Amino acid sequence: MPASTTRDYPDEPGTSHLDNHHPEILVSGLKRSFGKVEAVRGIDLELHSGELFAFLGPNGAGKTTTINMLTGLLRPDSGRICYQGEPFVATAYEVRRRIGVVPQHNNLDRELTAAENLRVHGRLFGLGGPALQQRIESCLELAGLSEKRDTPAGKLSGGMKRKLVIVRALLHEPAILFLDEPTAGLDPHSRRKIWAFLRRINQEQHCTLFLTTHYIEEAEQLAERVCFIDQGRIIASGSPDELMKRTGSYVLDIYNDEDVDNEFFNDRATAMARLEQIDRTVRIRKTTLEDVFLQLTGKRIDP
Ligand SMILES: Nc1ncnc2c1ncn2[C@@H]1O[C@H](COP(=O)(O)OP(=O)(O)O)[C@@H](O)[C@H]1O
Ligand SMILES: [Mg+2]
Repeated sequence: MPASTTRDYPDEPGTSHLDNHHPEILVSGLKRSFGKVEAVRGIDLELHSGELFAFLGPNGAGKTTTINMLTGLLRPDSGRICYQGEPFVATAYEVRRRIGVVPQHNNLDRELTAAENLRVHGRLFGLGGPALQQRIESCLELAGLSEKRDTPAGKLSGGMKRKLVIVRALLHEPAILFLDEPTAGLDPHSRRKIWAFLRRINQEQHCTLFLTTHYIEEAEQLAERVCFIDQGRIIASGSPDELMKRTGSYVLDIYNDEDVDNEFFNDRATAMARLEQIDRTVRIRKTTLEDVFLQLTGKRIDP
């Protein structure tokens, strides 16, 4: 009987299946419905090594459904997901090792200490002994939680819990970290600390980051590249700057009795010239991603 293979992709003998010639993730035509609800209606995207990428959209847009399909928690109805050129098989250990997942809701064991939560995760990935101990220590240090190592997770502050979930996802040293709404429910101060932390993970640990958010500021502050998602579809993508430039970098808020009209301009001088012609209350400001989304969809992301 001839030697056969079930794989349908080219491969050179002796090379790793996962190499650097392909995008980290390539997605095409991804769809998923729940009964009559078409949560994700055909998504194409490409993610490259080292990127800090955000999926930005209102509640119910299909962000969690997408991330769950990309991480193997949910089966797509149709479409294709490839990791480094390899079709994604949710049970493949090699791909599971490459990814870390931070779910929308913290799923720590509240009774276990910070260190124990990390240990349980490490064991799931086959780590043990001094190597695991070392990873636990460096993850606690990365999160600034070394002194909380013996504190039950349930007793940590909201920001600390979130950091613990993040470093837990990093424990097995994944190449890509998925974060579903990393700062939802946190106060502005904790949120900023998590942003700084995520930037460090991206830059110092060379980890590719894919995050979803419904916070405009989060995407603006953090992401190098943003995809707007609305009603299960990607409606625009680019760097925050590119997206804002496409709409016009400056905006006039023109106040009426009831509401506010917007006019967009590519440069400040033209916007100022227009401002002087208007005899109502007018404010000039820089365009935000919220303005871009509003222009594209007629609604706000975070009403
Ligand atoms: N398990 C499910 N069963 C039924 N409907 C679901 C389920 N998960 C998500 N949905 C629906 O799919 C749509 C997209 O949801 P989701 O992906 O959670 O959006 P987001 O994360 O952007 O808020 C929503 O209309 C939501 O109600
Ligand atoms: Mg969600």
